[in-house]
Formats: sequence, structure tokens, C-alpha cells
Amino acid sequence: ARITFIQPDGSENAVDAEPGMTVMEAAVKNSVRGIAAECGGACSCATCHVYVEEEWREATGEPEAMEEDMLDFAFDVRPESRLSCQIRVTDELDGLRVRIPEKQF
Ligand code: FES
Repeated sequence: ARITFIQPDGSENAVDAEPGMTVMEAAVKNSVRGIAAECGGACSCATCHVYVEEEWREATGEPEAMEEDMLDFAFDVRPESRLSCQIRVTDELDGLRVRIPEKQF
């Protein structure tokens, strides 16, 4: 699936992600700036925070309770905030667009 990461300055990185990996892993594998992912995907660092673009919010779903709790530690949390290590790539997410926040801390 093709996933586009949008930097705070508006520049975009489009990467290819295999179904089954997470959006965070796709970012890290492709050296996308701004995804620190310090805990390596265990949902315990909140440094893989992204904003899901409006038209993709339904497809990516709602955060689960553990993710919701962890998001409290993220910077500038909004209704469209997700932890990218908790979004699993599927074929349905082909074309997904997420924004990277100004900072992760
Ligand atoms: Fe740490 Fe997602 S990588 S919460």
C-alpha cells in the first residue's frame, strides 16, 4: 500500500508499505523524518504520533484504550491524532495520507 507522510513544512514522502507492517514501521524503514518511535512500536512512547487526514479517519479507525492513554503524552494532540505504530497497513489503506506533527516531545 502506498502511504504518504506530510511534513510540517508541506513536503511529502510517499512510501510503499507491505500489508501487516505498521505505518510507523513503514516510516522508519524509509527514513521518514519526524517519526522517532523510541519504544519500537510497543505503544509506550508516543513519539510516533501522526495526524490522519480527514478522508482516511474512518478507514484507520479509532484508537484503542491503551493508545488513547499513551496519546495523552504526545505533543499537540487533536481529534485526528493516532500513534502510527498502532495503525496496521492493509490493502484498504492504499493511498493513506498522514501528517507529521511539528515535534514529538
Ligand atoms: Fe512508541 Fe508508537 S512507537 S508508541
